[in-house]
Amino acid sequence: MRYRVSVLQYEPKFLKQDENLETVQKMLAGLQTDLVVLPELALSGYVFVEMDEVMQIAESVPDGKCFNTLRQIAIDNDFSIVYGFAERAGDLVYNSSALLNPDGSYHVYRKTHLYYREKLFFEPGDTGFAVHPAKGDVKIGMMICFDWQFPESARTLAMRGAQIICHPSNLVLPWCQQAMITRSLENRVFTITSNRIGTEINKDQQQTFTGAAQILGTKGEILARMETTGVGVETREIDPSLALDKSVSSMNGVFADRRPDFYQR
Ligand code: ACM
Repeated sequence: MRYRVSVLQYEPKFLKQDENLETVQKMLAGLQTDLVVLPELALSGYVFVEMDEVMQIAESVPDGKCFNTLRQIAIDNDFSIVYGFAERAGDLVYNSSALLNPDGSYHVYRKTHLYYREKLFFEPGDTGFAVHPAKGDVKIGMMICFDWQFPESARTLAMRGAQIICHPSNLVLPWCQQAMITRSLENRVFTITSNRIGTEINKDQQQTFTGAAQILGTKGEILARMETTGVGVETREIDPSLALDKSVSSMNGVFADRRPDFYQR
């Protein structure tokens, strides 16, 4: 099966949801793909210092404005979208991502491992790592940015049948892009890390984001990697069924040979 996957990289403007949505709409216009991944907090920016700022941009599902705009784009263009957003659920806010499918179905993941000052504003995710069908019934899993640091995130998604791990990110540490090569290889899955670029400054807080958004193959091949400051879309054609092959040799498999009795829980 040939399947086109795309990754976006750009610089969201802090709290400018409408402007960021317009940027994303332009990038998605005419895109020939089956699945496209956007960054973490793709339409809001990242460096919050007040809860009020988070509340300005947080959206509930399924009635949020950006959620609905992107959902309609997925339907109109016949591709699946994964994007990160601040999700309001009653009084609580999660750092979430949504899978939006061309048939109108959707699924939400809430970030499990919060990074640094995210802990001041977001609840730790309570969805766990679930696998969902994207366009073409390809099985995808979602994890968000710092989830990469914990191999259990990708391992759980892969063991539950994910063929492609979609990884919306706002990366600030220098190691993730290389580490994801191992995540792909050790689980024999495709991974798509969408990252943002730029330096965001808010009062006494500042973060610089590392770009280098990438699409990796099931043996850790770098199928696409953007520049650290590049803006744009990269698309690659893959065969998702390769992720069903977990063999390392005729006598070894990455899951079949696991020895959980000897592992620390
Ligand atoms: C991060 O998890 N956004 C670094």
